Amino acid sequence: MTAVFDSASIFAAISPAEAVARTRDAFLAHHAGEWSMPSKLYVDAPPAGDFRAMPARGGGLAILKWVTSFPGNPERGLPVVAGALLISSDETGELLAIADCAAVTSLRTGAAAAVSAQALAPAGARTAGIVGCGVNGSWAARCLAASGYGSGVCADVRRESAEALAAELGWRAGSTADALSCDVVVTVTPGDRPVVDASDIEPGRHLALLGADGHGKAELTASAVARCELFCDEWAQASTGGELAGPVERGEIGREEVTELGAVLAGDAPGRADPDAITAFDSTGLAIQDLGIAHALIDAWRAGDLEAGEISV
Ligand SMILES: NC(=O)c1ccc[n+]([C@@H]2O[C@H](COP(=O)([O-])OP(=O)(O)OC[C@H]3O[C@@H](n4cnc5c(N)ncnc54)[C@H](O)[C@@H]3O)[C@@H](O)[C@H]2O)c1
Repeated sequence: MTAVFDSASIFAAISPAEAVARTRDAFLAHHAGEWSMPSKLYVDAPPAGDFRAMPARGGGLAILKWVTSFPGNPERGLPVVAGALLISSDETGELLAIADCAAVTSLRTGAAAAVSAQALAPAGARTAGIVGCGVNGSWAARCLAASGYGSGVCADVRRESAEALAAELGWRAGSTADALSCDVVVTVTPGDRPVVDASDIEPGRHLALLGADGHGKAELTASAVARCELFCDEWAQASTGGELAGPVERGEIGREEVTELGAVLAGDAPGRADPDAITAFDSTGLAIQDLGIAHALIDAWRAGDLEAGEISV
């Protein structure tokens, strides 16, 4: 029998704090070469969006996430991110579990913002600004709050989304400029147009850029990118799709200007150069992050702390 983890059981079993710890461990295990991750495969479905197939293996598990990004879906009453995560034993090949991938994606995406802030924001950074308070922006805020950041400012073109998130966390709703005035800024918009220009950002900020996770997407203008010390989740993926892919394609930045987060976490590369630098972390979303949450799910399930259905496949 194969276990089935739905969204409600996943959120009940895995706290934002645990998601942050597991995501941090995942970046470290990948950087150390202990976990492997073949390239993410994009299957474009224009004009609506795209599918991604994301495999990874490590620590006794192998996973495959089949996930969407359909940015216009909220207008149809459907989520941007949907699909399934298959979790197998890498010793027997047995399919252990099928998990709702939107919940896993939200936990590991939000967690990456918090891990990047812990590694790259200046000492003493506390306030958090969220630009784009949809599904993944909300989880970024929850993970930052669980990591000690706040109070914060929530900004969204849909004022009601910003207000709902602000009310949940005891933060406040404000403009994009208000959010950009915080110590740590997370952008989680659809990435169809830049939301941050060079003139918008003050020295000493840390930006976690989550929304531009595929071809042709960007949340920063080229001049804003040029102002930042650049970090990414994985160079191979980030240089070909997402925030940095455009500047790389145009020859504005190269490999030597961008540091992987795992290297900073492991102490193998420096983080921010000085307190006044502006650091930007380009998150394109890695399968090893999903693997980190998959480990948390399997551990919770084996400990009897996660309610699961069962199917025979
Ligand atoms: N980096 C990653 O690992 C990762 C993971 C999942 C999703 N994503 C990407 O994140 C983006 C958002 O995904 P989601 O599931 O949160 O979508 P969502 O629709 O739930 O949220 C997007 C939010 O951005 C708001 N928004 C749109 N334009 C804005 C603007 N100019 N200023 C402020 N707010 C604005 C929308 O009103 C909405 O609330 C997508 O592009 C998705 O592909 C990235």
